[in-house]
Amino acid sequence: KLTSLDAPGYEKVVYAEDEASGLKSIIAVHSTKLGPAAGGCRMFAYPDIEAAKTDALRLARGMTYKNAAASLPLGGGKSVIIADPHKDKTPELMQAFGRFVESFDGMYTTAEDVGISVEDIEEAAKFTSYAAGLTKGEYASGDPSPVTARGVYLSCMAALKHAFGHDRIEGKTVALQGLGHVGMYLAGHLHEAGASLVVTDIDAHAVAQARQKFSARSVAPDDIHDVDADIFAPCAMGAILNANTIPRLKAKLVCGAANNQLADDAAGEALLEKGIVYAPDYVVNGGGIINVSAEILKITDQKWVDQKVEQLAVTTDKILTKAKALNASPHKVADQFVDEILAQ
Ligand code: NAI
Repeated sequence: KLTSLDAPGYEKVVYAEDEASGLKSIIAVHSTKLGPAAGGCRMFAYPDIEAAKTDALRLARGMTYKNAAASLPLGGGKSVIIADPHKDKTPELMQAFGRFVESFDGMYTTAEDVGISVEDIEEAAKFTSYAAGLTKGEYASGDPSPVTARGVYLSCMAALKHAFGHDRIEGKTVALQGLGHVGMYLAGHLHEAGASLVVTDIDAHAVAQARQKFSARSVAPDDIHDVDADIFAPCAMGAILNANTIPRLKAKLVCGAANNQLADDAAGEALLEKGIVYAPDYVVNGGGIINVSAEILKITDQKWVDQKVEQLAVTTDKILTKAKALNASPHKVADQFVDEILAQ
């Protein structure tokens, strides 16, 4: 059963309920101005439909900005499934989701996000041709994480001169939070380039690995904000830049992979006031969606991906240059940059 949901400013938002499989899901398409909408599917035990809708809308809009900032011919959309990924997931549920995606007739392409694995998407893909992030098939793009890490690393290099007046990473200390799929690759790039690493994770194995491979020092998860570092790289969860953490930061530059790093607008302003350069999250972490978009757009030329990822660093540089000139917070300048692209 499909129900259209009211969402001003969005092109199409639909709630689907399928009794047989237990599927309860929302697909939100924010904008198709630049192309068909693309964005992952999140599975989470939302307390109610309203909470799921709020998240879907926020995430879908975020994808419009991320895709535009990465100069991809794709719009913004996202889907959520109301279910506990540890308990409720079945092949039937994902197949029903696949049929729901198919009902958008190409207006929206899905992929992995929090709570959804490659296997889940492959289950959905049995019933829709609008699913990406697959490991099998002619255009399969595989794990996006190394590409995301490379984009963050290159953007970090481009941001150095804005924070330090020069672009040497050797000898700089990076406090890195989260050694997961992206964080571990990013640690590798930074180590290779001559940076010292102070890392943290709630997963002791990941920490041990980083200590061994990259001669990293480690601290307890809650102490990462107090580390005497030049650069802070958040690669775990969102809203990590907030009224509690910002006063504790010693770094002059924040550049990491995590989505939605700023708890709110005030956090962006607080960083500016403290003289900390903030490389906007959705600009620097666009490598993953660039990699997935090659699959969506049926592009096999690796150079296309590489160039787009390198371009993220150029965009970061542009945004930070403009932010400095205006004495404005880079996250606002990034939003304006995208708004201008969308207005064209
Ligand atoms: P992941 O789940 O593989 O890694 C996250 C890591 O953070 C895990 O090792 C986890 O143990 C750790 N962690 C969780 N809570 C923590 C805490 N309180 N303190 C320290 N460590 C903690 O996720 P992944 O794929 O590496 O993504 C990291 C971030 O980057 C997420 O915010 C994600 O949304 C974002 N991102 C990821 C992309 C990708 O290609 N994988 C693309 C764009 C954004």
